[in-house]
Amino acid sequence: MNRKPIFAANWKMNKGPSETEDFAKSLLSKIQNRTFPCDIVIAPPFVSLAKAAEVLGNVPAVALAAQNCSQFDSGAYTGEISGMMLKEFFVHYVILGHSERRAIYGETDAVINAKLRKAREYNFKPIFCIGETLEEREGGKLEQVLRTQVSEGLAGLSERDLQDTVIAYEPVWAIGTGVTATSAQAQEAHAFVRSLVAEKFGTESAAKIRIQYGGSVKPSNAAELMACPDIDGALISGASLEPQSFLDIIQNGVPG
Ligand code: PGA
Repeated sequence: MNRKPIFAANWKMNKGPSETEDFAKSLLSKIQNRTFPCDIVIAPPFVSLAKAAEVLGNVPAVALAAQNCSQFDSGAYTGEISGMMLKEFFVHYVILGHSERRAIYGETDAVINAKLRKAREYNFKPIFCIGETLEEREGGKLEQVLRTQVSEGLAGLSERDLQDTVIAYEPVWAIGTGVTATSAQAQEAHAFVRSLVAEKFGTESAAKIRIQYGGSVKPSNAAELMACPDIDGALISGASLEPQSFLDIIQNGVPG
């Protein structure tokens, strides 16, 4: 199965509009007139989306993502941003279920599922994040945690929805820590996640879905991780904040 790798930069709460403009212009100058054998996605904070869209909105090689999206359409939800609003910013992808949303903001599998379904109503491609904590892994709960996250997070999605969804496997203990999962650990978890998708949606859908790895991905480890058969790209934060580092990850991950 030939899956197009996808590299997404999750900036988290970094880069306001002016820093976003600098990054976008620098990236543009480096990628101009080049084609890539992968999808490239940038997820700035909400307030920087307009600036990113201004610089990169017409650049076919790069798509924009939001880092979150409300499960509601509009109304009395102070501090929230709806899919309808995001539509105005050339947003194509939405990151949902990130471990920080789960751990810090208490998002449950049910909330994440509601967000995924709402994102699909607006035709966004969800980047659906899953992953275990160190305690869960060491307690032998890896498979159970992934099974629950996949089955509850993807509940009620159609095969069509699934085709437009990307899963990001991000072991929580590897996020922002500098500790990367070994390629064997990552491959094993990815193959397991793909088997969970097969159980739920069939082997054909499972063979098509892209599963990114996330957690301390950097230029020096991208090649080894991306060489694993079930790893289809990366979700990167720390090493995506500088354009050359982000590009080096892509180039090392998918040479040519
Ligand atoms: P990191 O974060 O690349 O800084 O480890 C990844 C993520 O949280 O998506």
